[in-house]
Amino acid sequence: MPSTLPNTMRGALLTGHDRTELRDFPVPQPGHGEVLLRMKASTICGSDIRCIYHEHLGKGPEGYQGVIAGHEPCGQIVVTGPGCRRFRAGDRVIVYHISGCGLCNDCRRGYMISCTSPTHRKAYGWQRDGGMADYLLAEEKDLVALPDELTYTDGAQVACGFGTVYEALEKIGVCGNDALLVTGLGPVGLAAAMLGKAMGASMVIGIDIAQERLDLALKLGLCDHALPSGEGNVEQIRSLTSGRGVERAIDCSAHPAARATAVRATSKWGRIALVGEGGSLSLNPSPDMIHDQKTLYGSWVTSIWKMEELVDRLVRWKLHPEQLVTHRFDLDKVDEAYALMATGKCGKVAVCFDEELSATV
Ligand SMILES: NC(=O)c1ccc[n+]([C@@H]2O[C@H](COP(=O)([O-])OP(=O)(O)OC[C@H]3O[C@@H](n4cnc5c(N)ncnc54)[C@H](O)[C@@H]3O)[C@@H](O)[C@H]2O)c1
Ligand SMILES: [Zn+2]
Ligand SMILES: [Zn+2]
Repeated sequence: MPSTLPNTMRGALLTGHDRTELRDFPVPQPGHGEVLLRMKASTICGSDIRCIYHEHLGKGPEGYQGVIAGHEPCGQIVVTGPGCRRFRAGDRVIVYHISGCGLCNDCRRGYMISCTSPTHRKAYGWQRDGGMADYLLAEEKDLVALPDELTYTDGAQVACGFGTVYEALEKIGVCGNDALLVTGLGPVGLAAAMLGKAMGASMVIGIDIAQERLDLALKLGLCDHALPSGEGNVEQIRSLTSGRGVERAIDCSAHPAARATAVRATSKWGRIALVGEGGSLSLNPSPDMIHDQKTLYGSWVTSIWKMEELVDRLVRWKLHPEQLVTHRFDLDKVDEAYALMATGKCGKVAVCFDEELSATV
């Protein structure tokens, strides 16, 4: 270990009951195939709020094991353990947020999110220490190189939000023929609007209940129309699309009414992706799906190779996910960061370190 590294570091736990707890931990030493990252940016996801922050509700892959929180980490390698094959000290990297066994069929497809090993599948920030700390121990196989054109705060959002949305948009296929509806304009929905436009959608319509999020979507130019959520949404969308409805829709709200709107406001032969997690959905299959020949997809995170592809596309499209970040906090103020994200009166919220803390978009 370099002599300049401290022995201890700060790390934040989510205790439930809307609280965080900052504690001192030993700085970990990388073992075989592992690296130690200096954290640079660690963003907060809606799933953290839904499953861990208010209460420890999650089960199975969403079960929180009392580890350092944060599953959207991006940083710079400071030490590599023995046996590392590609990355070196000084490299800027994104961490694919679930470490899998590497050997099951899902891992071999690059979808460590679905790793079937009950002992080796561990998500950063859920079952193994995550990014809300000064340093993070990661496995080299979980790393994606961060190009020079992207900032660490861009990279943090590729892990989870943008990767998830890229996968879902690829499943439904978005191009210049399509009007795209995004229900739920949290950071994930805003990412869907940003990538949907870059993939060619000729009109993007967003829906949310929070005025702050509708305003942000318009201010950033991500949506052509931003509609307050309500019973008239399907009619409003039809009138914006010559009576037909949108060709593609993606739900990022998880709300049953917004999900039903996404399905019902989609035109004949259209495709819809469900991304928002939890809750329920009630449909009348014949009029809502069957007679209009629609296809409904579920989409969970993405593969590590698609994450690499997305990073390349972000550079080509000159997109900066950090545009969605409205607030940056020092790790000492991590409590304020989670509390703000839980209000929903914000865009993406980031805990940042070093040069990323003072950076502005
Ligand atoms: N499928 C996956 O792989 C995956 C990955 C990451 C996150 N998620 C999920 O995606 C969802 C969005 O994540 P986020 O970080 O943006 O969370 P978020 O909670 O910030 O965003 C949800 C948004 O939906 C809005 N909303 C609530 N009710 C609504 C309604 N009736 N109509 C329209 N909008 C409504 C909220 O105001 C909020 O802006 C969460 O459910 C999260 O767990 C899924
Ligand atoms: Zn997430
Ligand atoms: Zn596996």
